[in-house]
Amino acid sequence: MNKAIIEVNGLAAGYVKGLNILQGIDLVIKEKEIISIIGPNGAGKSTLLKAIMGLIPISGGRLYINGNELANFKSHELIKKGIGYVPQVANVFPSLTIEENLEIGLWTNTKNSKEGKKEIFEMFPILFEKKREKAGNLSGGQRQLLALGRALITKPDVLLLDEPSAGLSPIAIDEVFNSINEINNKGVSILLVEQNAKRALSFCDRGYVLDQGKNSYTGTGRDLLDDPNVIDLYLGKL
Ligand SMILES: Nc1ncnc2c1ncn2[C@@H]1O[C@H](COP(=O)(O)OP(=O)(O)OP(=O)(O)O)[C@@H](O)[C@H]1O
Ligand SMILES: [Mg+2]
Repeated sequence: MNKAIIEVNGLAAGYVKGLNILQGIDLVIKEKEIISIIGPNGAGKSTLLKAIMGLIPISGGRLYINGNELANFKSHELIKKGIGYVPQVANVFPSLTIEENLEIGLWTNTKNSKEGKKEIFEMFPILFEKKREKAGNLSGGQRQLLALGRALITKPDVLLLDEPSAGLSPIAIDEVFNSINEINNKGVSILLVEQNAKRALSFCDRGYVLDQGKNSYTGTGRDLLDDPNVIDLYLGKL
């Protein structure tokens, strides 16, 4: 069986002291897996990713990376340990060029800057074509590819993606999903938060449904798609 890269047990976290949005979340991401997290607006999906990345105060729970407990959820340590993150909003710097955005992705490791950029440009030729343009001039879909590239440039083992297809045209959505698949085929595990629950569950190996800051259902994507409770409570509405 594939080993766990990230394991989270009983994670409790919020934005304000004494007010937990996440109320004991359990989650495992194994090598090579694509995991989807679905759930209604405000369920805590983005909060979960922010908590794993150490961007909000944690009030309980444990985090293991490759089987070792990480005492502090610290972003720079997580990045060093191979966790990449693409936030839901503000995931590129619009006033910087495409190339500069990628270079910022490398702030933890400037040694292989040329090589890193070359790989990203090979994966996303459109970014190479436009490398001297400002990121703010890119289309929504191209911007998401840049955000993926920026996170990939540190060569993560796992990518946490917060709604990478939100607000995109159908063609751009396909392009983003294809890119995620390609990234996964290179051996990177994916944790994908998605509004398009049916598509996400068809796409993933396993899924988690979050509701009101708690785990509600989990299973293979197929099992969740076929579960009458999940259909009734979440798939109809989303
Ligand atoms: N910066 C913040 N400060 C205080 N509360 C916040 C903040 N961001 C989110 N929340 C609250 O945390 C809860 C969970 O929000 P979160 O953004 O994690 O939901 P979500 O599942 O990602 O929803 P969506 O599908 O709309 O992206 C909500 O009640 C929200 O109001
Ligand atoms: Mg969100």
